[in-house]
Amino acid sequence: MQPAISLNNITRTFFQGADEGPGIEVLKGITLEIGQGEFVALQGTSGSGKSTLLHIIGLLDRPTAGVYKLMDRDVSGLDDDEQSDFRNKTLGFIFQSFYLIPYATALENVILPGLYSGRAQAELRERAEYLLERVGLADRMTFRPNRLSGGQQQRVAMARALLNEPDVILADEPTGQLDSTTSGEIMNLFHDVHESGKTIVLVTHDVEVADTAQKIIHLSDGRVA
Ligand SMILES: Nc1ncnc2c1ncn2[C@@H]1O[C@H](COP(=O)(O)OP(=O)(O)OP(=O)(O)O)[C@@H](O)[C@H]1O
Ligand SMILES: [Mg+2]
Repeated sequence: MQPAISLNNITRTFFQGADEGPGIEVLKGITLEIGQGEFVALQGTSGSGKSTLLHIIGLLDRPTAGVYKLMDRDVSGLDDDEQSDFRNKTLGFIFQSFYLIPYATALENVILPGLYSGRAQAELRERAEYLLERVGLADRMTFRPNRLSGGQQQRVAMARALLNEPDVILADEPTGQLDSTTSGEIMNLFHDVHESGKTIVLVTHDVEVADTAQKIIHLSDGRVA
């Protein structure tokens, strides 16, 4: 299997201020590979570094040291613009608190990441409608987030992450705020997306959720356990 994600001795140190000592090393040398089309759950206690790692994988943050290759491309040499361009084309990110735009409808929220892609409005709209149908929200497209349930908002966030047809989907506790039935529905969607060939990395505290993944990676105090 070709790696989608390859991390070699990745560290991340947070510095509090200019003169305040050595900083806190949150990731202490992470080496791992995630194959294309693989479904991986990332587990670990609170504070173990899961979100920090996911942000680095998602090109939302940079490692302090180490080599990160995404889809065979070394990303450390990319400048910020190149990184965000690569991110928009390659990655879909789903957060725990959905980060939907409150004054935009479900449909507009899903279209949003496409506005930088240069694709025609009509084509974007058609794809967004298709995705919202796929996540079971055909009759909610014109609703704003405050009129949607938590599970419905998470499904909008999923449709949004899929708009640009990313190879890799990253999700940070996507079921954390949901009851077990709704969480099960969201996980079914993740498995559908996985079956369509995507690589998925999902952070979760939930053992049942993690057990449905092909592989579980445990983080413990900034290291792979
Ligand atoms: N910007 C930052 N500046 C300083 N320290 C940070 C920063 N972001 C995270 N940390 C520290 O890094 C450690 C790991 O945080 P992280 O958010 O990655 O944990 P997590 O495994 O996602 O935890 P949780 O399960 O609670 O979400 C924590 O001790 C946190 O205080
Ligand atoms: Mg976290």
